[in-house]
Amino acid sequence: MPVNIAVIGAQWGDEGKGKIVDLLTRHVSVVARYQGGHNAGHTVNVGDAQFILHLLPSGILHAGVRCVIGNGVVVDPDALFDEIETLSRQGVEVDDRLLISDKAHVILPYHRELEVLAEARRGDRKIGTTSRGIGPSYEDKVARRGIRIADLADDADEADDGPLAAAIRENVSARNRAVGGAEADWRVVHAEARSVWERLERWVGDASLFLARAMDEGACVLFEGAQGTMLDIDHGTYPFVTSSNGTVGGICTGLGVGPKAIGGVLGIAKAYTTRVGEGPLPTELHGDAGNQLRESGREYGASTGRPRRCGWYDAVVVRYAVRVNGLDAIAVTKLDVLDSLDEIPLCTGYRYRGEVLTEFPSNGAVLAACEPVYETLPGWSSPTAGVRRYEDLPSEARSYLERIEAVTGVPIAIVSTGADRAETIVVREGLIDRWQADAAVPASAS
Ligand code: IMP
Repeated sequence: MPVNIAVIGAQWGDEGKGKIVDLLTRHVSVVARYQGGHNAGHTVNVGDAQFILHLLPSGILHAGVRCVIGNGVVVDPDALFDEIETLSRQGVEVDDRLLISDKAHVILPYHRELEVLAEARRGDRKIGTTSRGIGPSYEDKVARRGIRIADLADDADEADDGPLAAAIRENVSARNRAVGGAEADWRVVHAEARSVWERLERWVGDASLFLARAMDEGACVLFEGAQGTMLDIDHGTYPFVTSSNGTVGGICTGLGVGPKAIGGVLGIAKAYTTRVGEGPLPTELHGDAGNQLRESGREYGASTGRPRRCGWYDAVVVRYAVRVNGLDAIAVTKLDVLDSLDEIPLCTGYRYRGEVLTEFPSNGAVLAACEPVYETLPGWSSPTAGVRRYEDLPSEARSYLERIEAVTGVPIAIVSTGADRAETIVVREGLIDRWQADAAVPASAS
């Protein structure tokens, strides 16, 4: 029986999921995104070429692999078309390999405006969002006034008086009340929303049904998470989170598959920690140390170019990700970024009012009062950059990884030592083998 794998961020996003998904895609025939939108930025380097995927599953880079955008994703049609065109210029054709759930919600221009306004109104309490309209689109979904992909096809709307027109009229008038100044014309928004349907239609369908049939036919699916556990709307550092469930539970709701479809869960964690935007980051480094990590790791957002905040590996965070996602193993990325350090602190707990906490606190006020407890490991004598076999790593780097395994509580399956596909060590062949299978290409995907 083929086993479907979930790949999930174990920190605050930007863990290097794109590369690992790309690497594992050779074992699967379908890659499915289940949440988020084009706030994501998954970078994949292949030789001299660099691909940055925002909305499309990273599997799109592999010819013959079918890619699914599930109902849990919010889709900005313009961003989707731009991404498809950029890929085409880079020699990657999407053709009929893409399937977008007809139940996915759309992002329209007023969502972006409302987000900018909400952030400005929050002042010091701003979240530091990506300004892509993600949050307001999910807000509309939960408030039951959202517009789904299938609604764009509504023929009754040709006369401007169908259900799509009514929904847009209502949403644009709410936008006009909220934003003030020059009013947006709902007819313009409606005409634009209608006009994208012709281009989108070929890719729209029932994603849950497609996946069920593909799995029946023996296809192996990779579930690609976006953002990370600590940005999850329920389990992350609320309110400094994104608006969807990037944790494992989002797979079932965001694709319409049952929990037994998920056979293995791989968490991705950097050998240190980063976050972009506001909110707590217990092991954050300020000043020169933070700048050094940022520069050696080229820690700038793939979607927004914003500098990322950097800190040491936080085992409390990744242990928490193990718990809420049921991680079987982790992939540790960007080990080579630590190459020039003499010593490397590793956070194993938080000191709070004289006690040491080993579990991540749910309460933001408690977290704010926590001080990381570190143990310090020696840096390594020779670089790890580009190393492809575990035994070729310097002994200090192996000790660092072994300590990460011990304090995190799951095995390390993969270590990444550079941006390229080839700069990777598969540590636990057995584990990866168990997840691989002779995946069949679903007949309906040909
Ligand atoms: P939003 O998803 O644009 O609403 O932003 C909410 C928070 O999630 C902000 O702190 C963003 O910086 C962060 N965020 C959203 N997407 C990503 C991502 O793909 N990587 C890292 N951080 C992200």
